[in-house]
Amino acid sequence: MLRECVIVDGVRTPNGRAHAQKGWFRNKRPDELLTAVYDALFARNKQIDPEQVEAVYVGTANQTGVTNDIARLAWLAGGFPESVATNAIGQQCPSGMAAVEHAARAIMCGEGDIYIAAGVEDMLKVPMGEGMDFPPRLAMRYPPEELPMGPTAEKVAELWKVSREDMERMAYYSHKRAAEARDAGKFKNEIVPIEGEKEDGTPFIVDRDQWIRDDVSLESMATMVSPFKPGGVITAATSSPLTTGACALLLMERKLADRLGCEYHLVYRGGAMAGCDPTIMGVGPIYAVRKLLQRTGVSIDEIDVVEINEAFASQSLVCLRELGIEENAPFKKTNLWGGALALGHPLGESGARIIITLNNIMKTDCPEARYGLATLCGGFGNANATLWEKAS
Ligand SMILES: CC(C)(COP(=O)(O)OP(=O)(O)OC[C@H]1O[C@@H](n2cnc3c(N)ncnc32)[C@H](O)[C@@H]1OP(=O)(O)O)[C@@H](O)C(=O)NCCC(=O)NCCS
Repeated sequence: MLRECVIVDGVRTPNGRAHAQKGWFRNKRPDELLTAVYDALFARNKQIDPEQVEAVYVGTANQTGVTNDIARLAWLAGGFPESVATNAIGQQCPSGMAAVEHAARAIMCGEGDIYIAAGVEDMLKVPMGEGMDFPPRLAMRYPPEELPMGPTAEKVAELWKVSREDMERMAYYSHKRAAEARDAGKFKNEIVPIEGEKEDGTPFIVDRDQWIRDDVSLESMATMVSPFKPGGVITAATSSPLTTGACALLLMERKLADRLGCEYHLVYRGGAMAGCDPTIMGVGPIYAVRKLLQRTGVSIDEIDVVEINEAFASQSLVCLRELGIEENAPFKKTNLWGGALALGHPLGESGARIIITLNNIMKTDCPEARYGLATLCGGFGNANATLWEKAS
């Protein structure tokens, strides 16, 4: 008999621009960001001693330089117990979601009772694709120019005939919703304020995401040019921006959570991974979600709240349409507090971050909602999806 895994808590840093002059966290190390979220988790959950954690899973897409085995090094550097094992998970963008899935499965099958599942990425200090060396035989299977992320987003827009207007509309509402959620204080429960610095170098406590554009307008987006393809339709506005951030969830076996008096709202009901053609990697969630629903016996109509990572507007719109979830922004049940187009997308962090946000949305905005879905695509054609149910 499988046990149940619940989300006891989840916190994240604000997302900063991965920019050498403008980024609020340009002089912070990613291990410091990770330590800050661990510290916050233990400060908020005093009934848990770090020694009780069975293991820490950390998703990071690019594990090199300052993020090389950041799972172990950040944990030790933060002063946490040596006896707690760590595991760095690398699966491109779904890394953070994979970290959650690993922990949840371990809890369900009784390998341990308390886990931390985290995600971290610093796209300034470790740029996308840093140190990557494509196998020569890969180029015999796929045109190398079709493998980088931007070109895959252009190809998806072309194949599925997604209009530029619909993508910009999605970006517009992503910023609007994120700004509304921020102004209403909805991110307060998940964001850990930490010190950063302004563009002029003045230190300040960062308590909000840096990428949300309060002045977003359809008119200005319409004038932008694709950096990925001459005459292309994907622009910086309809791409998730380069971002730095970290997050962590405290996951626990349900009965233990009850005994310890921990509150929780969501129970893990399953996860699925699916692969697809890497030159259209963004449509991977279609296959991962279909698998997940088929195996759990839950229908798409039963899903009340959806978090899909907005790596690019083209791919997330196609996924939502093909799955029969939504047609166009403003969405009714998807990314209700905005998505990665506005909040940013620190690659390996986002899969865990959207689960934290899903948990908070379901707890505060949709307390009656039963099922929540979180899904995202990943570079070179991996996608993950997880299903969560309100604890009865
Ligand atoms: C698209 C991309 C190349 C743009 O990079 P960039 O040129 O450094 O662009 P920025 O995001 O800094 O934006 C550049 C400018 O575009 C304009 N801009 C961006 N978004 C805008 C918006 N929504 N509305 C109006 N203007 C916008 C601004 O003038 C901005 O400069 P500013 O904010 O400093 O004033 C980069 O963000 C990228 O590669 N994104 C995809 C990342 C990725 O592949 N992730 C993995 C997904 S699987």
